[in-house]
Amino acid sequence: MKEKLELILNNASDEINKASSVQDLENVKLKYLSRKGELNSIKKNLKDLSDEDKRIVGAFANEVSNKLEAMITSKGDDLYGHELDEKLKKETIDITLPSDFRPQGKVHPLTQTVNEIVEIFQGLGFSVMPSEYSPEVETEYINFDMLNFPPNHPAKDMQDTFYTKVAPNVILRSQTSGAQIRQMINQKPPVRVISPGRVYRCESVSARKNNLFHQIEGLLVDKDITFADLKGILNEFVRIYFGSSRPTRFRASYFPFTEPSAEVDVQCIMCGGKGCRTCSGTGWLEVLGAGMVHANVLKNVGIDPEIYSGFAFGMGVERLTMLKYAINDIRLFFNNDTRFLKQF
Ligand code: DAH
Repeated sequence: MKEKLELILNNASDEINKASSVQDLENVKLKYLSRKGELNSIKKNLKDLSDEDKRIVGAFANEVSNKLEAMITSKGDDLYGHELDEKLKKETIDITLPSDFRPQGKVHPLTQTVNEIVEIFQGLGFSVMPSEYSPEVETEYINFDMLNFPPNHPAKDMQDTFYTKVAPNVILRSQTSGAQIRQMINQKPPVRVISPGRVYRCESVSARKNNLFHQIEGLLVDKDITFADLKGILNEFVRIYFGSSRPTRFRASYFPFTEPSAEVDVQCIMCGGKGCRTCSGTGWLEVLGAGMVHANVLKNVGIDPEIYSGFAFGMGVERLTMLKYAINDIRLFFNNDTRFLKQF
């Protein structure tokens, strides 16, 4: 039996030395060292030997097995390293090959407008409000009541609101103005922020109206803020956004949360003020709503209107984009037709 073991050791060593691939080596291991391998079949016969022989031959069998294991491991390391080198050599990347064609995506025109406007206001000292102050799913309380819309007042009908079934009075916000409330509850003056976001209104969709659109809300509250500050900031904004030579005008208007309130028009970009279809013959285009924050709103958030004053404004992102690029249908922004989108 001992001779048989020696033969196994010799043959196996030989085959291990000759193995030229990891697979060869696996086969040798299987042949000699597996459960059904040659070494094991000898170990199985040990039981027929005398106790003395069992001890000697058993110990030798283990020695053979250990030696073979060690040889296989070391040879395996060599072979594996070698095969890896070969593989890596074959896989060298040819950096001169032309790459696959991938059409480049673009930033959506509405996002471009938001980015542009945010940058303009950052240049004027405003920062972007934390997004948690302006959730799209809002309470009627914040969206209307805190903004001085009296209960059951027809002013609520100015904005056709989507009500949800989540809980009574939980709505999809109809305007970003509620963000003013959350901001002022969380931060006392001086406040100088803008807040871009999505709003929803239950309107029939047309070339001019969509039931989802975007607004940018602005708020500035401090001591000694006057309507002149509001005019200065908004004129500056219009000058940068539309170009320096475009005249603006402030028209008296009404919003429950501002007093006095105004709508800001820019001279029509199509006809330069002569009157055309885009401006319905008026020569002017309305671009945003604004006003001095109503004393009741300041009181609602615990700010003393005797000490502080401020202004707020809200603008439609779609409208501003349409005016700048002469786009005549708001639905184009939402259809995701790449022929439209890739022009920007
Ligand atoms: N929230 C108003 C709207 O959706 C726009 C607006 C007007 C916002 C005046 C303001 C503001 O902050 O002062 O029609």
